[in-house]
Amino acid sequence: MSLKGKKILLGVTGSIAAYKSAILTRLLVKEGAEVQIIMSASASDFITPLTLSTLSKKPVLSRFQKDETGVWNNHVELGLWADLFLVAPISANTLAKFANGICDNLLSATYLSARCPVMVAPAMDLDMYQHPAVQSTIQRLESFGNIILDAESGELASGLSGQGRMMEPEHILAKVESFFASKAEFKGKKVLITMGPTQEALDPVRYISNHSSGKMGLALAEAFLSRGAEVFVISGPISLKVNKGSFRWQDVKSAKEMYEAASELHSQMDICIFAAAVADYTPAEIAPEKIKKNDVTLSIDLVKNVDIATNLGARKKQNQIHIGFALETEKEFDNAQRKLIKKNFDLIVLNSMKESGAGFQLDTNKVHIFHASGLSVESEILPKSQIATLIVDQIKNIPVWV
Ligand code: PMT
Repeated sequence: MSLKGKKILLGVTGSIAAYKSAILTRLLVKEGAEVQIIMSASASDFITPLTLSTLSKKPVLSRFQKDETGVWNNHVELGLWADLFLVAPISANTLAKFANGICDNLLSATYLSARCPVMVAPAMDLDMYQHPAVQSTIQRLESFGNIILDAESGELASGLSGQGRMMEPEHILAKVESFFASKAEFKGKKVLITMGPTQEALDPVRYISNHSSGKMGLALAEAFLSRGAEVFVISGPISLKVNKGSFRWQDVKSAKEMYEAASELHSQMDICIFAAAVADYTPAEIAPEKIKKNDVTLSIDLVKNVDIATNLGARKKQNQIHIGFALETEKEFDNAQRKLIKKNFDLIVLNSMKESGAGFQLDTNKVHIFHASGLSVESEILPKSQIATLIVDQIKNIPVWV
């Protein structure tokens, strides 16, 4: 599951396992999480702030006073900012501070201020871990609702072997991912997304297509994935780097192929997003051989393609949600409203080619969102990932969702 858009506060305390927090940071960042690290003073005996700030791409914090940026070293702000406060490794000392409300450094003050869920991954020697004082501290933290990532067994820094090793970073990542998936609002929901362009073959080497890069559709797919949905993507030919394994992914070329794939899945879907730029026309015939340039002009007969959104819109069940896009160059609002009704969408996202920063290829978009209920929302120019979040957030305003 992608952690895109998730804000994770990673606490690192003084333990030999602190070196693993570098690997953990890298894994979290790779999955798209924004990671802010707070180190206890003794953590820096085991790993340098420079290593962790390089990997997290943010300054590492350890004291109350403000740094040059002036904003981060506020434990209340940090506590409010995070979606998850993960402390890995957590030493016996910091466990005890958390359990008893001791507030003598930035990390423990942030713990007391955090409104988000807290996960801790203890690391210590096996006898320390088994000590009743530590075990009762762990139970106390559990009783506060904190999530304990049990220490794993194996070789310990002391040379002894037993339970006490910090959970491996890959296992922590899996816990974090399943934590977000379990609280995700679209858990159990199936979402279909058409995206990218279609290619309509003229002959074995040429086709008619458009400039869609698939960026908008992919941003939506990632947004739904990060909120727990099972995401079925039907993509026209794109050249984006995608981790297709996170999705139920089908590559198609033509509008006909896209329609057939979408039609097959449609009845099982809860939400369908039509973000693809589907060619409206296709050559009446595909020339079996490469068309030769014999004449000054060349006429090609085109026939209308199937309209995927209109066809599936006619089959839409009462509990299904359909979201469409309108890409316009003129009479934007009128055309979008017309498509909203004609294609039986619950909402339509208008992007205008006249707006700079909006439309094909770019990493940004600027949209107007029109609900069938009459509600409308306008965005600024924002990264497509944020536009996707805005669109997904609008689903709660669709009557059949409530
Ligand atoms: O991929 P990017 O480079 O990031 O660009 C994003 C985008 C501009 C392609 C995207 O945001 C967008 O606007 N997609 C829809 C473009 C489009 O085809 O608009 P339209 O107004 O022609 O179609 C209206 C709706 O009907 C769309 O939801 C479209 O997917 C759907 N449609 C259209 C024709 C057709 N034959 N079948 C369809 O399903």
